[in-house]
Amino acid sequence: MPAKHFLTLLDLSSNELNGLIDRAIALKNEQQNGGHKDPFKNKVLGMVFDKASTRTRVSFETGMVQLGGSAIFLSSRDTQLGRGEPIEDSARVLSSMVDILMVRTHEHEIIERFAQYSTVPVINALTNDYHPCQLLADIQTYVENRGSIQGKTVSWIGDGNNMCQSYINAAKQFDFELRIACPKGFEPNAELLTANKDRVSLTQNPREAAKDSDLLVTDVWASMGQEEEQAERVKEFTGYQLNSDLMAIANSSAVYMHCLPAHRGEEISAELMDAPQTLIWSEAENRLHAQKALIELLLSC
Ligand code: CP
Ligand code: NVA
Repeated sequence: MPAKHFLTLLDLSSNELNGLIDRAIALKNEQQNGGHKDPFKNKVLGMVFDKASTRTRVSFETGMVQLGGSAIFLSSRDTQLGRGEPIEDSARVLSSMVDILMVRTHEHEIIERFAQYSTVPVINALTNDYHPCQLLADIQTYVENRGSIQGKTVSWIGDGNNMCQSYINAAKQFDFELRIACPKGFEPNAELLTANKDRVSLTQNPREAAKDSDLLVTDVWASMGQEEEQAERVKEFTGYQLNSDLMAIANSSAVYMHCLPAHRGEEISAELMDAPQTLIWSEAENRLHAQKALIELLLSC
């Protein structure tokens, strides 16, 4: 039987995803009340990184150790991948030795090829197009603090990037309305928008998107690989900052998120970043719990 991969949120059913969120919350509870009983004993996660990371690396590695397994960090700088060994060959060899793999890379097509040749589950730990693991943590955080996200209104303020596109998939899978506010020329993939037009709308007006919303989300204006566009993007995105003015027109119970790393004073105000009640730190921590639930699910398939 071919391995079950997690390249986008569409690789799991809505039921599986909702079950995974519940399981993540249970695993968090278990961890905070004495830890787990080594269910991943002798299991090894290979972690292929073509891009930088703090949260993703530490959460995957810690998660494996806490569940009794281990993880191997494989930077393309230090492996033959960085010297041009084909993706297909690397996927075959790595998957013959480890139990599960996660890959952070550039074009989404790279991870699709990697998964095609891997005999063990492959997890997307971020591509230029999607960041589904972050969405698991975001939804877990919302559920923990506000209950089910089904039927709620979520506003995306900023770049139509990998996080935004994962929010589009999340809107479909978790059944919420998504309003995206981004400057002209920085919209998410047009086909993805069209495929989800029953629940996803697009505007250039952040206030229109934020009004009466339940969850407001943003991310950096220049993603990894776009560093040279940073100065130009700061100009283009003026007026798209997630701040207390936008929160004031959202629902009174609204919360906000940011996957981090953040640029205080650009896409999010310092005031929101440093607010004592912010969920952003819990959102980051939940990467650990949500990914444990994900690995458990994929290893059981
Ligand atoms: N949010 C996130 O994926 O962070 P890292 O880039 O630090 O892994
Ligand atoms: N959109 C950002 C997310 C970082 C976690 C990037 O791709 O760099």
